[in-house]
Amino acid sequence: MSKIVILSGSPRKNGNTDILVDSFASGAKEHNDVEIVSVHDYHVNPCVGCNSCFSREGNTCCQDDDMMTVYEKLSEADTVIIASPVYFYGISAQLKAVIDRLHTPMRNSFHIKRIGLLLVGAAELPELFDSIISQYNLVLRFFHLEDAGKVLMRGARERGDITEKDIQKAFCFGRQL
Ligand SMILES: Cc1cc2nc3c(=O)[nH]c(=O)nc-3n(C[C@H](O)[C@H](O)[C@H](O)COP(=O)(O)O)c2cc1C
Repeated sequence: MSKIVILSGSPRKNGNTDILVDSFASGAKEHNDVEIVSVHDYHVNPCVGCNSCFSREGNTCCQDDDMMTVYEKLSEADTVIIASPVYFYGISAQLKAVIDRLHTPMRNSFHIKRIGLLLVGAAELPELFDSIISQYNLVLRFFHLEDAGKVLMRGARERGDITEKDIQKAFCFGRQL
């Protein structure tokens, strides 16, 4: 049994990312302890690049905001799922702020073994996810992480545009973990 934390990055409630995340979580809960962290609900400042986390006791951050709660949740996780709408070929700014703040604890204190992706975008372009996947693969390699899998959903602009087939894919992805 794994402890799975889903970092869910859309600010749009009940949108396409939330639908994928809920379906993934229903599947994953069959065999794992699953927690959804909807990052828009937390006040997380971007990293200020001071590098003081390298030398501070426990590698803690100099900023005292809701990231402290997110750190606690992630400290128990062995699997992290990154879920995001595509924004300008990248992930949402809310999610990027959380991920940048993982800079030092990812190396030193967390026990994360594998990560996965749930992504949704409006375009049908074959290259829609290329830049996110390229960054994802570099992160996997750098931190020696296992790829837990991916569900990539194109052609969904408005809330609920997501297809039943993709909802099912997200469920199966969760259930096989
Ligand atoms: C600021 C912004 C940037 C976006 N950039 C892209 C993009 O580069 N490519 C794309 O296909 N869709 C883009 N979209 C559309 C969203 O990815 C799409 O509507 C998605 O379904 C939103 O997911 P959500 O319902 O979970 O918020 C963008 C949307 C916003 C608000």
